[in-house]
Amino acid sequence: MTRHLLDSADLTPDEMGFLLETALEFKRRPRKLLQGKHLALLFEKPSLRTRVSFQVGMHHLGGETLYLAPQEVGLGEREAIKDVARVLARYVDIVAVRTFGQVIAEEYARFSDIPVVNALTDEQHPCQALADLLTLRERFGDPRGHSLAFIGDGNNVSSSLVVTAASLGMHVRLATPEGYRPPQTVLEEARARADRTGGSFLLTADPDEAAGGAEALYTDTWISMGQEREAEQRRIDFVGYCLDDRLIARAAPGAFVMHDLPAHRGEEITDAAMESVNSIIFDQAENRVWAQVAVVAFLLGLVDAPAS
Ligand code: CP
Ligand code: NVA
Repeated sequence: MTRHLLDSADLTPDEMGFLLETALEFKRRPRKLLQGKHLALLFEKPSLRTRVSFQVGMHHLGGETLYLAPQEVGLGEREAIKDVARVLARYVDIVAVRTFGQVIAEEYARFSDIPVVNALTDEQHPCQALADLLTLRERFGDPRGHSLAFIGDGNNVSSSLVVTAASLGMHVRLATPEGYRPPQTVLEEARARADRTGGSFLLTADPDEAAGGAEALYTDTWISMGQEREAEQRRIDFVGYCLDDRLIARAAPGAFVMHDLPAHRGEEITDAAMESVNSIIFDQAENRVWAQVAVVAFLLGLVDAPAS
């Protein structure tokens, strides 16, 4: 059966650990494992990191990419999703899709007999979370037993992050305003995985509680792509959630500062926090390259993965 990566929970904790080790190995010593393989990038939203990191990563490992911009395909408008999926499967070996609704990516995958990777939907951003954990893996050695606080919106980035970090045995804290929590399924998944791996998961509406003693602080935009009309209300609702010096002072000494980018300095994070010596934000961006080629090699069955 064709394996897809649509949701972080599609991967077992063992597979996530394996992907991080594979990514590290590729980063240390890239080899032409993806020679002759073609990846299509089918995007309904803009992108800098995801697009470029997939393209560069494929190139490093000998593969090729094809970028299809939002206006080019008209997924579900010019042409039915199920037709696009079946056509592209005749041309390439694997597809990375960036869509609005998760249901669009899911429908696409239902009709695709080649692997589909979620390159960000409104609900999930699994590649980002793997790159983030790879970055923490580099800093901590094993992330297991270390603490991570996400302060901000219960969006695609934090949903994938909490499940991935809990799967890898981290002590995860998530602070969101009441009305901005991730879906219940995500919260339950994060809790269940933390229980299994010896990590923990705390949900709070108090940024100070989440940040207290944390070894890494993470935030993302308050206004994700597609939410522009809610911008004004969101800026009001997220007052007090800015990742700033005050919050950093509550965290563990030397706590890492994280952001998936693009950032809005002066909103969810201060310029000083972004530029601080403990910022690992640009390592996160770099590690997208290696996390994603590991995912591609894994879904194409080119690396020996643990039994799922
Ligand atoms: N972090 C991230 O996914 O960035 P892009 O939207 O630029 O791809
Ligand atoms: N939450 C953000 C992430 C961008 C990479 C968004 O969806 O716009």
